[in-house]
Amino acid sequence: MKSIVVQQPERLVIEERPLPQPGPGEVRMRVSRAGICGSDVHIWHGHNPFARYPRTIGHEFFGHIDAVGQGVDAARIGERVVGDPVLSCGHCYSCQVGRPNVCRELQVIGVHRDGGFSEYITLPAKNAHQVPASIADNEAAMIEPFTIAANICSQLQPAKTDIALVYGAGPMGLTTIQALRGVYGVKRIIVADRIDERLAMARANGADCTINNAKDDLGAALAQQEARPTLIVDAACHPSILPQAIALASPAARIGIMGFSAEPCVISQQEITSKELSIFSSRLNSNRFPMVIEWMSQKKINPTALITHQFAYTDVLDAMEVFEKDQKHCCKVLLTF
Ligand code: NAI
Ligand code: MN
Ligand code: ZN
Repeated sequence: MKSIVVQQPERLVIEERPLPQPGPGEVRMRVSRAGICGSDVHIWHGHNPFARYPRTIGHEFFGHIDAVGQGVDAARIGERVVGDPVLSCGHCYSCQVGRPNVCRELQVIGVHRDGGFSEYITLPAKNAHQVPASIADNEAAMIEPFTIAANICSQLQPAKTDIALVYGAGPMGLTTIQALRGVYGVKRIIVADRIDERLAMARANGADCTINNAKDDLGAALAQQEARPTLIVDAACHPSILPQAIALASPAARIGIMGFSAEPCVISQQEITSKELSIFSSRLNSNRFPMVIEWMSQKKINPTALITHQFAYTDVLDAMEVFEKDQKHCCKVLLTF
């Protein structure tokens, strides 16, 4: 089979690899679609601290089951499935409290072990979620990115009374905006980004109002609209954002962060406690695939609006380059296998 492998930082190749056999409790998937994510680019460039090389990348993948291992119902062969990249031990504290995404022995498919940019992949049967016929192949490849939004929203519990502020209108910001609009029906969604074209995408995906915070002062723009955000999501993840979010938040607001920067930022207890703010973080997803499959089945979200490019897997280098360099026109890039 062919697999897209980062042999070492900066060396991405299509390799011939042996067809994997599903072990006990596993299924083998014939991948048909996979989505490119920022973390794939980071592994390619050697910027992901968890990656080991050589590595088949890809953690957003869809296909069908073509073989099952011992203990898995053979009736699953042929099922259309999407892969949850989160592998967990099942018995540590986090796993016991329903948060396998921060398992002590967390393994992420496509990061810690070989991923879905491959004609075939094996994974635990419980990580292969059935996709109903009403969800098309391309949409199904978008389920994983929406699980990130589902996870942070599950932490923040958006409500109809909320005035939401979302930083960043990349794939993560846009999936969050769609969920806030279509699933939670918040009162108002304000989006800040530094690129006008991305702000246009934010409006197309449900934002009521956008602010280019490279040109305009965000605090002043919000004050002009008399908007005090009650729910803030940082989907841009620069370390300067959390202190500003704390300053701009309404009393009793919730703030959600998703960034992995190791750079410190300065925040004061007074600003947080005097407004009794709640600050949540969110990593990957904790069993949010069924939730997102439900959202898509009910057409509460529109995943195809985020797909701007599609390439054959053999053109993966072109696909990675467009994804990385053309932030103005590119959102989600799919590979077809
Ligand atoms: P992206 O790079 O495509 O989008 C980020 C957007 O934020 C860009 O449009 C950029 O112009 C904008 N931006 C940058 N600095 C800004 C600022 N100071 N104010 C407002 N906007 C600003 O990235 P993507 O894929 O949307 O991911 C966003 C972040 O989420 C990344 O940092 C990524 O590491 C993180 N992430 C976290 C996950 C988690 O589970 N915690 C999962 C996936 C991504
Ligand atoms: Mn991703
Ligand atoms: Zn665990």
